[in-house]
Amino acid sequence: MKKTVVAVIGCGRIAISQHFPALDGIDNVRIKYACDIIYEKAEAMKYKYDKVENAITDYRITLEDPEVEAVWVLTPNYMHYEITMAALRADKHVFCEKPVTVNYTLSCEMAEESRKRGKLLEIGVCNRFSEPVEMLERWNREGRFGNIYHIYCSFRGYRSIPGLGGAFTTKAESGGGVLIDWGVHFFDLVFYILGGAKVETVSCDAYCELAKDMKSYRYESMWAEDTANIENGINDVDDFISGYVRTDKANISFNGAWAQNIDIPEMFVDFLGDKGGARLEYGKRFTFWDGETLQSFSPESDLPNHWAREDLAFIEAIKTGKKTKNNIDEVLETMKLLEALYESSKQKKEISY
Ligand SMILES: NC(=O)c1ccc[n+]([C@@H]2O[C@H](COP(=O)([O-])OP(=O)(O)OC[C@H]3O[C@@H](n4cnc5c(N)ncnc54)[C@H](O)[C@@H]3O)[C@@H](O)[C@H]2O)c1
Repeated sequence: MKKTVVAVIGCGRIAISQHFPALDGIDNVRIKYACDIIYEKAEAMKYKYDKVENAITDYRITLEDPEVEAVWVLTPNYMHYEITMAALRADKHVFCEKPVTVNYTLSCEMAEESRKRGKLLEIGVCNRFSEPVEMLERWNREGRFGNIYHIYCSFRGYRSIPGLGGAFTTKAESGGGVLIDWGVHFFDLVFYILGGAKVETVSCDAYCELAKDMKSYRYESMWAEDTANIENGINDVDDFISGYVRTDKANISFNGAWAQNIDIPEMFVDFLGDKGGARLEYGKRFTFWDGETLQSFSPESDLPNHWAREDLAFIEAIKTGKKTKNNIDEVLETMKLLEALYESSKQKKEISY
């Protein structure tokens, strides 16, 4: 069987922890290039995986190679746009990590380019491939919740600002802080489970409080410790966010914290329906109540995780040309919502869509 030839651009944390192992585990895939502007990072992948054929620093080499059918764009958010647009114009299919890029306008341009070129553009909203999320989506379609009238999202960690002073905390490079970085996953899975929803109004407050003085910030998790930029870098993004979204279906309230002075991480989504309700423990399991029964569901431990399943789905899609469920068309509404929430915070008022 003909092998699918791919390239991975960006060999940082998500590439190392998820996408290289996933691609390595899929039969009939050749990873022709591992690319990173820091050569040693690409080279480390070539040493680690027999499947990786070349280590390079210039992503354009992958686009000029007619053998390469698809690229994985796993760079900081602001580079998603440039590399994805160039890849689509070179007639490659693209898997691009979340968020699409730093704002809604550029995200729409990326979607338009993929349509124009007839090439797939799939986004790393991996929760759509998480079994508990898939099951809640099915249960909602089957009517087990009745009418879901409210959803509460909590994405709160304790002193977990990623890469303080680097691309994640520089708005021009990331598009924002905890809302765009973690919130994108939560809103995406909510819209997926609801089967889409029309947003009517949004209200939001964004705070940048705990690392105003980067040198005195004390991290407890994530990887602020290994950034080189606490001396001269930038931190101008939200580390805490709170807001309210009205839609034609359920209304959504939410709180998110990359960092807060409460050491009780709370990562969950509550779905409140008039027949049933569920708490989804993010990335893990859910519990469902309907007044008579209580059911818990945890994913099968021997199944690949949701990142591996999304990569497998993309490889299949390259062969069939059929979009996966994390195609960019499914994610644009979330990007529009995130932008409106930031705008509401800037204007300090509720915004109508
Ligand atoms: N789906 C998820 O749950 C998930 C989790 C973590 C990160 N992400 C996303 O993945 C992306 C990368 O995040 P990360 O945590 O791996 O960051 P990272 O900083 O660890 O890795 C990014 C890598 O890209 C490289 N790079 C930068 N510009 C490049 C260019 N022009 N060409 C080639 N390489 C380049 C950097 O040198 C670095 O090694 C971000 O968009 C992030 O939002 C998604």
